[in-house]
Amino acid sequence: MAMIALKAPNIEVRVVDMNAARIAAWNSDTLPIYEPGLDDVVRQTRGKNLHFSTDVSSAIKVADIIFVAVNTPTKTYGVGAGRAADLRFIESVARTIAEHANGPKIIVEKSTIPVKTAETIKDILAANARGHKFEVLSNPEFLAEGTAVADLISPDRVLIGGERTPGGAAAVKTLVEVYAHWVPRDRIITTNLWSSELSKLVANAFLAQRISSINSISALCEATGADVDEVANAIGKDSRIGPKFLKASVGFGGSCFQKDILNLVYLCEHFGLPEVATYWEGVVKMNDWQKHRFAGRIVRSLFNSVADKKIAVLGFAFKKDTNDTRESAAISVCRDLLAEQARVAVYDPKVPADEIRADVLGKDADPGRLTVARTAYEAAAGAHALAIVTEWDEFKQLDYAKIFTGMQQPAFIFDGRNILDLAKLREIGFRASGIGR
Ligand code: UGA
Repeated sequence: MAMIALKAPNIEVRVVDMNAARIAAWNSDTLPIYEPGLDDVVRQTRGKNLHFSTDVSSAIKVADIIFVAVNTPTKTYGVGAGRAADLRFIESVARTIAEHANGPKIIVEKSTIPVKTAETIKDILAANARGHKFEVLSNPEFLAEGTAVADLISPDRVLIGGERTPGGAAAVKTLVEVYAHWVPRDRIITTNLWSSELSKLVANAFLAQRISSINSISALCEATGADVDEVANAIGKDSRIGPKFLKASVGFGGSCFQKDILNLVYLCEHFGLPEVATYWEGVVKMNDWQKHRFAGRIVRSLFNSVADKKIAVLGFAFKKDTNDTRESAAISVCRDLLAEQARVAVYDPKVPADEIRADVLGKDADPGRLTVARTAYEAAAGAHALAIVTEWDEFKQLDYAKIFTGMQQPAFIFDGRNILDLAKLREIGFRASGIGR
């Protein structure tokens, strides 16, 4: 919304949420999320044509277009638990819109949702329409965290799905005009509603599949002495495969990949396609395996026991340049190490200590063997091993010779992101290994 406000100064953007603390944060100098470049965009637009408030009903009344961007977590209860999306927030928003609307509205689904959710929204709106006309569009977001601003300024594509009716076509055209303020027309794709909804899930499934594919090969590389980075480079030169998203890692994290694939799996099962469901479920299973495999390798290397040994975990966010920890591989790695009775010291440049503790241990747990360090050096002091779990740039610049002398000997380093020069580390004296090398 901040980007729309920046690029389309003639459009008035109101962001509303029932959560007053969150809105207050958006109105303050410390935004509630860390995203490079976002502060700048918000600073340029806030108070001009970008406004944050808790006044949901007024915003609905004055709006021509309403973007729905609520949470769609995986259901944790009842039918479809662990797989299906929990649509209660979507439903609640649809009811709120119907209640306060005083004229025709275009409703845009921005949240990632299962295919055919637009139908649910339409149903609820129609049943409560009081004579008003609503058009529902699907407009999934493809930005990635950490590069959100750049992705929004120059998206590979903008996808807009709408009903193939005159009303639907007019609504699609209205939304196309919004993006056309800065996105070239040939990058704005329009489809039917279901294609748009499904494309979002499929894009994430394909991206995650590439990571699970290369991660599966990383295990084979470790067994055979091949180097996964060299393999990725060699196959990526094939223009049909391409070089991106082939970085082997300790496992993908983030709020989207796992959730969206599980959603796809649930859809396939629901529509009687168990073979398709099993195929995609393999991507998530491989990812879980990779996370456990990494922790297992640490334990095996440290002479099959990490009990009471200190392990420094560098990085906790699910990727660099974000403070988001949702589904981060670090959570799984820390838990596995704690289950082996290690002492785990975590350092992350952006994730607060409380968050790290809550993610690993639960809200009220006693920190016990888990500590959070203020620097990488503090985390590594006296440690038996160092595990790089997030690829923060600062980890490439650390003084590893200094770190080495402060560690227990033999000192191990496990590069879960393949960002370090293992040969150099071995020269210093480290027993160094990476993923698939
Ligand atoms: C992902 C998609 O890339 C976006 O296009 C999509 O819009 C977004 O989900 C979403 O659905 O909201 P995001 O989760 O922010 O974006 O971050 P990614 O850059 O895709 O990284 C996901 C995970 O995969 C991270 O843990 C990352 O470290 C890992 N990864 C990525 C690898 O392990 N190897 C790679 O080669 C690339």
